[in-house]
Amino acid sequence: MPQPAFDAKPKDLFTRLGGQPAIEAVVGEFVARLAADQRVKFRFVNSNIPARTKDLVDFVCVVTGGPCQYGGREMKILHASMHVTREEWAATVEALVGALVKFDVPEAEQAELLGAIDPLEGQIVDPPAERPSGKELAKIEEAAVDLTRYGEQAEIYHNVFSRSAARPFDLGIFKNAQRAVTFDREGIVKVGCNLHANMATSIIVVAAPHYAVTDAKGAFRFRSLAPGAYTLRAWTERTAEPVTRTIEIKEGTNEISIDADGEAPTGTGQDKFGAPRGTPP
Ligand code: HEM
Repeated sequence: MPQPAFDAKPKDLFTRLGGQPAIEAVVGEFVARLAADQRVKFRFVNSNIPARTKDLVDFVCVVTGGPCQYGGREMKILHASMHVTREEWAATVEALVGALVKFDVPEAEQAELLGAIDPLEGQIVDPPAERPSGKELAKIEEAAVDLTRYGEQAEIYHNVFSRSAARPFDLGIFKNAQRAVTFDREGIVKVGCNLHANMATSIIVVAAPHYAVTDAKGAFRFRSLAPGAYTLRAWTERTAEPVTRTIEIKEGTNEISIDADGEAPTGTGQDKFGAPRGTPP
């Protein structure tokens, strides 16, 4: 089995940490801290915790020069579709430090282990966006010119609002300005304009570790999912509630099709006070 790309430390770190039992204790504590941390716990709702904990123990064992085999996936491929943020990285390192401190691991060994983990940040956290090529820049400029043609749109007043339970808000009436809304809860947020009944969009706030947006034909694709059972939720604007299914991912390519047509109400819905809307202009 190909081993992950990292430099194994000299054997003595594994020994100095206290060998296999000490690594199991530290990783167990690390996983417990992640599971209790609001910033990252949602990431692991679909994970097989005992199996992933064993992978982690083997991983740390190998990184510290211990006599183990790591059977999990390569860091970059494993975390590729997760869009891990810097804040989540910081929370994870914090959990690891907390576990090392709890088990009185001396500072020199702590620093050595963290030094081995540190280079993984570039493989796990989403890489920064690359500078657009000359061709892409030309396209962006073209789009910007197009936008200025719609400049007069900015002079129109709007009143953006949502009555969705996941994040009700009312931005009030404004033109030519930006307003910010924070979405801190999972759910479907249907957004409308109280002044224009024919304007609508939906924002899907997702806390699951894996998610995908379908293309124009309704197709979706996950680049990397570990085999196992998952809960899949799918939603379209035609679906009143998300379709929920338990699926089994097997080794290799998996195909699944979901009928997400439903009885979502059509038409212009309600205004921001909950009253039925008139005919759109
Ligand atoms: C200290 C840095 C990290 C290391 C060494 C690490 C290592 C690992 C390992 C060994 C596994 C299991 C291997 C496998 O499933 O094949 C794993 C799984 C996972 N990691 Fe990381 N990881 C790190 C940071 C993070 C961060 C910052 C996040 C996001 C908050 C994250 C999210 C996940 C998730 C969600 C899984 C489970 C995947 C699944 O159940 O299929 N990891 N990680």
